[in-house]
Amino acid sequence: MRLENKTALITGGASGIGAAATQRFIEEGCRVMICDIQAGPGATFASSFGDSASFMECDVTKEDQVAAAMDAAVQQFGKLDIVFHSAGIVGAVGPIATTPSPEWLFTIDVLLNGTFYTLKHAARVMLPNKSGSILSMASTAGVQGGLGPHAYAAAKHAVVGLTKNVATELCHSGIRVNAIAAASMATPMVASVLTGDPNNIEGAKAKLAEASPLVGRPGLAIDVANAALWLASDESGYTTGHTLTTDAGMTIGATVGEQNFAEYTPIIREAGKSGLDG
Ligand SMILES: NC(=O)c1ccc[n+]([C@@H]2O[C@H](COP(=O)([O-])OP(=O)(O)OC[C@H]3O[C@@H](n4cnc5c(N)ncnc54)[C@H](O)[C@@H]3O)[C@@H](O)[C@H]2O)c1
Repeated sequence: MRLENKTALITGGASGIGAAATQRFIEEGCRVMICDIQAGPGATFASSFGDSASFMECDVTKEDQVAAAMDAAVQQFGKLDIVFHSAGIVGAVGPIATTPSPEWLFTIDVLLNGTFYTLKHAARVMLPNKSGSILSMASTAGVQGGLGPHAYAAAKHAVVGLTKNVATELCHSGIRVNAIAAASMATPMVASVLTGDPNNIEGAKAKLAEASPLVGRPGLAIDVANAALWLASDESGYTTGHTLTTDAGMTIGATVGEQNFAEYTPIIREAGKSGLDG
């Protein structure tokens, strides 16, 4: 098993990508502490895994709660090998000229300050062991403009930057720090945006399949969970500071439909000339 004898804390583990990662990590032998603000669903989900999972209510915008969750995980497991920071929201949406400042600040608080608190306290508990793998959810909106709302895009770009910077520090202590830039995946967050119903995962999958460069293939929570599994495990032991895309090639320019220049024509040379003999 790929995470045998490993222990993990997963923020946002009650839903979507965090929940898929919880299941996938446990399948590979990991014990997981799920942290989320959704106390009821989180506790129920954790109990479905018996001794392999536990739940702790934790709001990632509250540093004392994040610190307490990390300490509780160490107390329970004896060590913490993996922290996967998946808690997040869509946040403020709309034109820059009219974005309400309180909505901007709330979004930054969850997506950026929450990442800072998580990385800070993950590092604190991992440093004595001189090993660990920390990963955070960035987004394709964190590596390319125009893919998300302004506050979301700004915060996710910051997650990518913070990941690189912290990686350059913690590499000296044997701790790796990476991120995942997912495109829209069929989770409750995206189902809510695409269909108006967070439970309509099938509806989200149908819409995402239509918009996927990989013909008919929607992005799924399990795709991100599998990427997280690799980054969490020792298989990625020489990889740090990296932001791994799960996006069907969207951020490298893959589009739906025909590709430019896909048809053969004789070689195009200096302007107005074509063919090798022309
Ligand atoms: N689904 C996607 O398409 C997609 C794409 C790129 C990035 N992401 C990122 O992946 C992460 C997970 O997204 P998801 O699609 O699984 O969403 P989701 O809504 O299904 O799950 C997010 C979880 O985070 C929890 N959460 C929200 N605010 C919190 C807080 N302050 N403290 C603790 N927990 C909190 C929620 O209760 C929920 O359980 C987010 O950071 C999101 O921005 C998602």
